[in-house]
Amino acid sequence: MAARDQRGAGDGGGVRLQKFLASAGIASRRKAEELIAAGRVAVNQRKVVELGTRVDPGRDLVTVDGKLVAGPERRSYFLLYKPSGCVTTVSDPEGRPTALAYLRGVPGRLFPVGRLDYDAEGAVLFTDDGELANRLAHPRYGHRRVYLVKVKGEPGAEALARLRAGVRLEDGPAQALEVELHEHAERNVWVRIVVGEGRYHLVKRLCEAVGLQVQRLFRPEFGGVTVDRLRPGAFRALTAAEVRSMRQRVGLESGTPEPPPAAAALPRAARRHGHGPPEPPAAAAAASGTRTPRPPAARPSGRRTGGRSGGGRARR
Ligand code: URA
Repeated sequence: MAARDQRGAGDGGGVRLQKFLASAGIASRRKAEELIAAGRVAVNQRKVVELGTRVDPGRDLVTVDGKLVAGPERRSYFLLYKPSGCVTTVSDPEGRPTALAYLRGVPGRLFPVGRLDYDAEGAVLFTDDGELANRLAHPRYGHRRVYLVKVKGEPGAEALARLRAGVRLEDGPAQALEVELHEHAERNVWVRIVVGEGRYHLVKRLCEAVGLQVQRLFRPEFGGVTVDRLRPGAFRALTAAEVRSMRQRVGLESGTPEPPPAAAALPRAARRHGHGPPEPPAAAAAASGTRTPRPPAARPSGRRTGGRSGGGRARR
């Protein structure tokens, strides 16, 4: 008997198996189709090779190579306030601390969506929702990335206009969707820059191309969710409404997403001059319901992970 008959998801009910596998973060839809065709996927313990098969995520047990796939209702979404001095990749060949290490104790196979440079700070989304991650990463879905960039001195109007007009980088043309002066610091200025893609070092390279020296790079929000109430190194689970809104933003769910947050004031931590690994704010975390794991161990190379006292040029 075909798996769909047994489960009663019915014609048009449930979701297509390859979509289910993709949203569970197992593989892209195309790769999921290959897994199904190769006979590696079972529904309710029966091998399924038909690509049209539908499953009811609330009822059906789906396995790949015998391992149970968690349904979408079990997906996890966490926002980390990444401090400077850690990489956003899951592991690092150079042995540097990873942002994932701040989520110690959170079960599941979470991965970061996109990347923030080693010396950059701010919002990083961790999830096991592969479909959402793909859409947030792909320029086609127009996901806007907002950055506050501390640049040396006072940027001229011409440099800002060039950012808006677009510049030619070594890997093709690039431009900022929005540029505005955000806040004056003592001898520097925070500029708010919005871009519509996640190319490597994009904001730093854009700034460099128009003669702006980047001192710090801060991402106040991601997918409409801000780090407002977090401290560096702390993270929190997204609310169901935030998840829905984020998925609506990239067309995965119907309905109107919440409007993007207004350009907020810089949080105190981002304003601080010099920034190192976060102190464990146990009291603040307990009060706000957020979690702040201890920072990961310092890198074995002996290089400093933070505690800088000056605004040196941002590293890539
Ligand atoms: N642009 C950069 O240059 N670095 C980041 O980390 C993110 C965007």
